[in-house]
Amino acid sequence: MIKISNLSKSYSRGAVKAVDNLNLHVRPGEIFGFLGPNGAGKTTTIKMMVGLLNPDEGIIIINGFDNQKDPIDAKRSIGYVPDSPVIYDRLTGLEYLDFMANVYQVPPDIKMQRINHFLDMFELVDAANDLIKSYSHGMKQKILLTGALIHNPALWIMDEPMVGLDPRSSHLLKELMREHCNRGNTVFFSTHILEVAERLCDRIGIIHKGKLIAIGTLEELRHGEHAGTLENIFLELTEQ
Ligand SMILES: Nc1ncnc2c1ncn2[C@@H]1O[C@H](COP(=O)(O)OP(=O)(O)OP(=O)(O)O)[C@@H](O)[C@H]1O
Ligand SMILES: [Mg+2]
Repeated sequence: MIKISNLSKSYSRGAVKAVDNLNLHVRPGEIFGFLGPNGAGKTTTIKMMVGLLNPDEGIIIINGFDNQKDPIDAKRSIGYVPDSPVIYDRLTGLEYLDFMANVYQVPPDIKMQRINHFLDMFELVDAANDLIKSYSHGMKQKILLTGALIHNPALWIMDEPMVGLDPRSSHLLKELMREHCNRGNTVFFSTHILEVAERLCDRIGIIHKGKLIAIGTLEELRHGEHAGTLENIFLELTEQ
C-alpha cells in the first residue's frame, strides 16, 4: 500500500537533513505506527507521502501510484490528517465537509449520508452550522478527521491524530482504525503515545535523526538486546 524507497529531504539548503535515505514498506491490512523523538523527521516524511513536500531524492508509491508522477491518483487513495488543525475558520463545519466531499467527488446521495454519520458519531451535530472558528481544539480535530475520511480512502495517513481528542473520541478513532484495517485497508500514523502504539499497531517504525532505526512488530522489536516495554525500547534506541 505504501512503498518508500531511498527517501531523503533536507531543509535550509542542506544544513538540516530531516529525512535520510528512508526505506519503508507498509502492507494492506496493517496499522503502522511511526514513532520518533521531536524533530526526528516524522512530519517531513508524512508531508512527502501526501504530496505537500517534494523529496530531494527517492520514490513513494501509494496504492500502486508514484506520488510524483501520478499525484492525483495517489492523493485519491489518501485521507490525510495534518499535525495541527489548521482549517478554514470562516466556514461552518457542514460547509467544510461539503467542500471536502466535493473536492473528492463524493456522489451527492452518499455525501449527506457520510456527513451525517460522522457528525453523529463525533457528537458534532449541534455544532455543524457554527463557524469552525468557534470550535474547540478537539472539535476542529474531529471535523478535520471527518473531512479526511469523507471520500472513504483506502489509506489513512495521520500525523498525531489523537492530540486534542477526548477519551471517547480517541477510543472511537482507534476503533475506526482497526475496522478500516480489518477490511484490508491501511493506516499509517505518527504518535508520541507509546501505549497507543503498543496496543493498536500491527507494526511500528522508529525514526531518529531522519533514519529508520527500528521496524517490526512489538514482538520483533522486543527480541535481541532490547527487552521490556515499548517505552524502554524507544528510550534505549533513541539515546544520544
Ligand atoms: N520548514 C522547515 N524549515 C527548516 N527546517 C525544518 C522545517 N520543518 C522541519 N524542519 C527540521 O526538520 C527536522 C525534522 O522535523 P519534523 O517536523 O519532520 O520532525 P517530527 O518528527 O515531526 O517532530 P515532532 O515530533 O516534534 O512533530 C527538524 O530538525 C526540524 O527542525
Ligand atoms: Mg511532527
